[in-house]
Amino acid sequence: MEDNQQNRRKFLTNAGKATLAVGLSQTILPAMASRFAGLNHTTAIPYSQQPLPYGYKDLEVSIDAMTMEIHYTRHAATYTKNLAEACVAEKVDTSAVKLEELMGNISKYSAKMRNNGGGHFNHEMFWQSMTPKGTEKPSGKLLADIEKTFGSFEAFKTKFTDAGKTRFGSGWAWLVLDKDNKLVIGSTPNQDNPLMDICELKGMPLLGLDVWEHAYYLRYHNHRPDYITNWWKVVNWEVVQKRYENS
Ligand SMILES: [Fe+2]
Repeated sequence: MEDNQQNRRKFLTNAGKATLAVGLSQTILPAMASRFAGLNHTTAIPYSQQPLPYGYKDLEVSIDAMTMEIHYTRHAATYTKNLAEACVAEKVDTSAVKLEELMGNISKYSAKMRNNGGGHFNHEMFWQSMTPKGTEKPSGKLLADIEKTFGSFEAFKTKFTDAGKTRFGSGWAWLVLDKDNKLVIGSTPNQDNPLMDICELKGMPLLGLDVWEHAYYLRYHNHRPDYITNWWKVVNWEVVQKRYENS
């Protein structure tokens, strides 16, 4: 019964969001589809919240169901809603301007656009970066590049974890591919991301970790490092590899 209720709530929530998004635009986002292969964006409506690729309970090994539900249906959904409002107010043609382009010119827009555009982009990427069938590490060229760049996969994990642990206040830890095709680890405050022209850390984001308290507080309280340690168990390396290969 509980599952049915949860599924129904999820369906109604997503149906409402889909209607909102259709109102914004009828076109798909081909650049996102190619750049973020494996993210189900081939049929995505731009600037809309996509359905989670798993249930709220499915990441329990790392993140509890209530956190997932509140995070997705309230925090992330609000970013999407506020982004839509900002696009109307600031006359952004969502059928013509790709989300990546908007991020790249974010200095020309309001704080509302920056915070909610980043919030929408970051969370959409975050949901797709996790899976109940997480593997320990990537393989192929990405693993080889990580090992070459950071010394070992464990050294990479330590550096990425430190980026999340030391981000003061709210923000994100990132693995990005910079303009020289070099893997770089860093973090950003609030909902900024490495695609933004105002961001010190720049590049194509391959993996992002939400270290806002809303992402972990119910289970981990103030123990952010424990959240990060457990989060590695659900990273979807297959998706990260596709982003790397398509960048
Ligand atoms: Fe979040």
